[in-house]
Amino acid sequence: MSDRVKYILDENKIPTHWYNIEADLKIKTPAPIDPATGAPMEIAKLESIFSKGAMEQETSHERYIEIPKPVREIMRQWRPSPLYRARRLEKVLDTPARIYYKYEGVSPSGSHKTNSAIAQAFECKREGVKKVTTETGAGQWGSALSQASSIFGLECRVYMVRCSFDQKPYRKAMMELFGATTIASPSMETEVGREVLAKDPDCRGSLGIAISEAVEDALKHGAKYCLGSVLNHVLLHQTVIGQEAIAQMEMAEDYPDIVIGACGGGSNFAGIAFPFIGEMLRGGRKVDILGVEPAACPTLTKGKYAYDFGDVAKTTPLMKMYTLGSSFIPPAVHAGGLRYHGMAPQISNIAKQGIMRARTVQQLDVFRDAVVFARAEGITPAPESSHAISAAMDEARECKKTGKSKSILFNLSGHGHLDMTAYLEYFAGKLKNYEYPEPEIAMALSGLPVL
Ligand SMILES: Cc1ncc(COP(=O)(O)O)c(C=O)c1O
Repeated sequence: MSDRVKYILDENKIPTHWYNIEADLKIKTPAPIDPATGAPMEIAKLESIFSKGAMEQETSHERYIEIPKPVREIMRQWRPSPLYRARRLEKVLDTPARIYYKYEGVSPSGSHKTNSAIAQAFECKREGVKKVTTETGAGQWGSALSQASSIFGLECRVYMVRCSFDQKPYRKAMMELFGATTIASPSMETEVGREVLAKDPDCRGSLGIAISEAVEDALKHGAKYCLGSVLNHVLLHQTVIGQEAIAQMEMAEDYPDIVIGACGGGSNFAGIAFPFIGEMLRGGRKVDILGVEPAACPTLTKGKYAYDFGDVAKTTPLMKMYTLGSSFIPPAVHAGGLRYHGMAPQISNIAKQGIMRARTVQQLDVFRDAVVFARAEGITPAPESSHAISAAMDEARECKKTGKSKSILFNLSGHGHLDMTAYLEYFAGKLKNYEYPEPEIAMALSGLPVL
């Protein structure tokens, strides 16, 4: 094993295909259900909301799906992304563990989200679509789709969750820089938004509300809706991350014992983990796969595995997933991208089968570890990514206790250059932990649809 710090693949090593985990799952992910009929959702209905291309990918059971050449050409700007060995962090922690991180903050808008934004905008452009709408939590997805829309000349309207809109003004500026329109959600622009505001004029918003507004806008104005996470095709687009990581770990002459990703809707986690899970399901080495979520929004760890809506207004199909109830509004933690009530159906399926495990982390521990990481490695991590950092550091601390030298890989999904308000508040002692919001979750779960 060498003493290298970074593992860089050549541009011609960008994966040519996305990896579809569905092909390797013995128990297939349950199909979405049409709430109007109780039967599996007809694809034709979904195509009124999403691009046809996205829906083909959504329902495919092929193991490998070719990445369109124009998408690969654009991705050459930041892919393959680097894999780092966190040698200085290892020293600070005084651990025998080997810590690696794949860094997605090198994409133009600063996170893994660009991988799917380009793919989705490309399909819309190919089908003659002129306008797209979407939701965003922290603003990473919104800025990624805004940038992708500017490349393909699409009009883009982004509904940004109110609490993040207030916490991260520069994300709004960035979206506008790329020519998009950003609207704080809940807004007065849609029926859903007006209804929510009539009940609670100070509502801080949620991804579930923002999705409802973006879908309503798309349906009313002849646009297509693009989603930043949760659905199979979005998870698929992120698998370039794990495929590259497998090649880079080979360069390092190592293989991870643990693979870690933060879980919002699940696309970042799927991106790093699915290719490793695929190897395992096909008879490869057993890896401990760990999803990390905020204690304030404990979907995988405290949610119910049931059919539920993906949004507040109940406009989406019913998806079988771990859910906290579609009306649950999580506390306003700074990891806005992790404030989603449900978990991707594919991730929920593998969690239910015990192929992965999940844990929560508290906001103050996340920021404490993000600061240690930043001071050791010099990279300012996004609060969402810092959930994975904190869990990886816990594993490394455990190695110190046991004396075991495990190989730990996590996805550093984005930089936090536009999240500095959160860091300032942390240093000023203004951030707090949130206890498990049990009564709110119980209330939201009591409204689960009955099939
Ligand atoms: C930097 C970053 N990492 C991770 C996530 C969580 O992503 P996902 O919803 O794909 O799980 C987000 C979501 O916005 C994010 O912005």
